[in-house]
Amino acid sequence: MLAGKNILLIIGGGIAAYKTLELIRLLRKDGAKITPVMTSAAAEFVTPMSVSALAGEAVRQSLFDLDEEAEMGHIQLTRAADLVVIAPATADLIAKMANGLANDLASTLLLAGNKPVLLAPAMNVAMWNHPATRRNLAVVEKDGIVRIGPEAGEMACGEFGPGRMSEPGEILTAIRNALTAGKLTGKRVLVTSGPTHEPIDPVRYIANRSSGLQGSEIARAFAGMGAEVVFVTGPAVSPRPGGVQVVEVETAREMAGAVDGAGQFDAAIFAAAVADWRVAVVQNGKMKKEAGKPLPDLDLVENPDILRSVSQRKTGRPHLVIGFAAETDNVEENAVAKRIRKGCDWILANDVGGDRAVMGGEDNQILLVTEDGVEQWSWMSKRQVANMLADRVSEELL
Ligand code: CTP
Repeated sequence: MLAGKNILLIIGGGIAAYKTLELIRLLRKDGAKITPVMTSAAAEFVTPMSVSALAGEAVRQSLFDLDEEAEMGHIQLTRAADLVVIAPATADLIAKMANGLANDLASTLLLAGNKPVLLAPAMNVAMWNHPATRRNLAVVEKDGIVRIGPEAGEMACGEFGPGRMSEPGEILTAIRNALTAGKLTGKRVLVTSGPTHEPIDPVRYIANRSSGLQGSEIARAFAGMGAEVVFVTGPAVSPRPGGVQVVEVETAREMAGAVDGAGQFDAAIFAAAVADWRVAVVQNGKMKKEAGKPLPDLDLVENPDILRSVSQRKTGRPHLVIGFAAETDNVEENAVAKRIRKGCDWILANDVGGDRAVMGGEDNQILLVTEDGVEQWSWMSKRQVANMLADRVSEELL
């Protein structure tokens, strides 16, 4: 997928540099050409020999190497690249970028570069949370630099929290996404998101724990690849993504109506946690409790199944229809059955029971069920799930 792409890979000085070796292997396997650059601190963690052996290219380390300057000026290194990747991006490198410092080869290339930059930060949790790093990151992100990670977890220094570099496979996906911006231009994608609220009376409703984060991230990822995204959302707490057409609804029936009225799509992703049932008769006035009166009997009726009706459209069915399966037991078995029952192409199943809060949380673990089988993804942020999904869908649509 990355055949013909040239990645300028800047390796910063951190223990996570060992993971960059695996990243190089994955990038090569994917067809990319790598131009490796190491800071002097990076060379304390992994050897230039290992990096150049895996990359199949000499490592550049010095700003003042006369041979290299004669052969290929350091500015030329950035001109030849399609993307600059910094992995691990240390607090020091981020600070240099934020302030435009250029006192070694890596920082000079960053200042002289005119290509998109992807950061994979890795540092101690206190460094990550430090106000200076927060400020510097805000500056580089405002400059348009894209970031993947860091992840939260136990760190090499023994502390716990955000700061661990993303896994190489996830960085690879982010690289593919960064290089495919605009790839889905001209494609229309529908994303449903968030919970639905089913009213009982003017003050009460039936709802669920969905925050809408996974759906928002999916819409953001597709918009980032240039797709025209219609985002139909229930009353979710997560911010709405930018650059998409937002349609706000409250109930499952409104969501079904909005989806039906939104036209035709190349791909439709149903991330909403739609309430299966609604109250048969919604009371116009607030239900009051009165001594001696029996408790209210809420008669439920089934809501329309939006995913199923789109999957089974006779005309105008999207090329790819993707549902989610929120399960607490027998996740794989239920998801495989659900894909067939609904008639959709793929199901992204997640275990919403257990100790880790998926619904309402930041992270997710997906079991991708397709006609060809079942694939387990690792635990990752909902943003990364969205990027992986957008990557896979774009392969399917193009
Ligand atoms: N879905 C939908 N309309 C509904 C219910 C669900 O479009 N009325 C979609 C969801 O957006 C999701 C998929 O169907 O993509 C599966 O949702 P889930 O709640 O896991 O499954 P259900 O169909 O509700 O089945 P069950 O509750 O029996 O697991």
